[in-house]
Formats: sequence, structure tokens, C-alpha cells
Amino acid sequence: MAELLTTQGLTKRFRGLVANENIDFHIDVGEVRCVIGPNGAGKTTFLSMLSGHQSPSAGCITYNGQDITALSVVERARIGIGRKFQTPTVFDNLTVYENIELSVLRVEADSSARTRKIDMVLDAVRLVDLRSTPARELSHGQRQWLEVGLLLGNESRLLLLDEPTAGMTNDETAATGRLIRNLADERGLTIIIIEHDIHFIRDLRSPVTVLHLGKILMEGSFEEVASDPTVRSVYLGADL
Ligand SMILES: Nc1ncnc2c1ncn2[C@@H]1O[C@H](COP(=O)(O)OP(=O)(O)O)[C@@H](O)[C@H]1O
Ligand SMILES: [Mg+2]
Repeated sequence: MAELLTTQGLTKRFRGLVANENIDFHIDVGEVRCVIGPNGAGKTTFLSMLSGHQSPSAGCITYNGQDITALSVVERARIGIGRKFQTPTVFDNLTVYENIELSVLRVEADSSARTRKIDMVLDAVRLVDLRSTPARELSHGQRQWLEVGLLLGNESRLLLLDEPTAGMTNDETAATGRLIRNLADERGLTIIIIEHDIHFIRDLRSPVTVLHLGKILMEGSFEEVASDPTVRSVYLGADL
């Protein structure tokens, strides 16, 4: 598969603290990758450097063969890097359809192409039946899917998701796993997910990168990572 994103020596220092140190990471087109690690391991900082919300102290980021290290958040969004935050970006009083329409409007001027695109996004995030529902009436999980839909509407090709299942019911978490798999397998999207939910990670069947103290401790399948003694010891007590 073609490589989509690579980091080399990616490092972030906050005064004395090294939040990310010398991270060499790569991900292929259409791959789903889970990033795990204890609190304070540097997961969010890493995602913030990929999205452009934090600039690295050292190292570089290549996306589609282009050095994007110096690009802003907006410039990165234009070339397909989309980040979902915990804080909501949906408009409560607009319907699901209208919310997606707003994000598609930014990239699609032709109205019939726009309609097709909105329908595609509704289908991709499983919200077809709720198209006329105001966003304020959505469940927590449905709202998160709508936010993913906004990224798809914007033509994001690399989705950066920071704990997308936080606060979801078990059913919503399972549905989110299927949705993410489908976006990668059927639509060729590339997805980096920070997650804590060990069952969710296991069921995704995707490679896992373990961060610890700002460095990559290990990469491998869920089974490899979960049975590694060093990984288990940094999670002390967690049910890996
Ligand atoms: N803006 C910031 N200023 C200073 N320190 C920060 C900042 N953001 C994160 N840190 C520190 O960097 C380390 C990694 O944080 P973070 O990336 O949020 O970890 P994680 O997401 O894995 O819990 C922590 O020690 C945190 O306190
Ligand atoms: Mg975090």
C-alpha cells in the first residue's frame, strides 16, 4: 500500500518537559491505526502536531510525499487532514442534513454534485434515517458520527480521532468500530485513533502503536502488544 503520512524525529518540548521524543511513525493509505498509552504519554500532543495545532520542536511530517511540517491547520485541512475534537462543532438547531450540507458547501460548488455528496456522507456515517432530525435531538454517539460526517463532507482523507468513543454506550462503541472499519475498507480513508477502550481496540483488528513517556514503546497487532510484558507493566493494573 502507498504510504500516506510519515514522521521523522518528531519531537515536542514544553519548556523542560519532553512530550514527544524522536517519533518515527508511518501509516499507509486505507490503514486504521490505534494509538494507545497511559495518561500523559504524549498521544494528544502527537495528534496535535499532525493536525498542525502544535508545531514540533524538531523533526518533520510528510503527507502524500509533501513536507507539511510548516503548514497551518487550515492548509492541512485543505489537503485532507481532518481532526475531530471532543468539543462539538455541530449546529444544534440545524438538521443532520443541513449540518453536513454546510461542510460540503465549502468544497463543492455544483448543487447536484453537492446533493450526491451529502447522501454519500449520510450513508457513510449511518445517519440516513436521521437526516431530518435536528442535531440537538441526537444521542451522544450519533452526534460523534455526525462530526465524522462533517470531516467527510470536507473531503478529509486522513481522520485524526482523539478518544471518539468516550461517553458512548456499549452499542454505540461497537457501531463506531464498524463505522471506522467501513470508512477505511470501503472508502479508502486513513484513520488514526487514540483510544482507551481495550475491547474496542481489539475488535478493530488494526495495528497498534504504544506511546510511553513521549516515545514509541512498541508497534504491532493488538495481540502482540497486549501480551508484551513491557507494555503490560506500563499499564499497571489496566485490563490489557
Ligand atoms: N500545552 C501544553 N503545555 C505544557 N505541557 C503540556 C501541554 N500539552 C501537553 N503537555 C504535557 O505533555 C505531556 C503529554 O501530554 P498529552 O499529549 O496530553 O498526553 P496524553 O494525550 O497521552 O494523555 C503531559 O505531561 C502533559 O502535561
Ligand atoms: Mg490525550
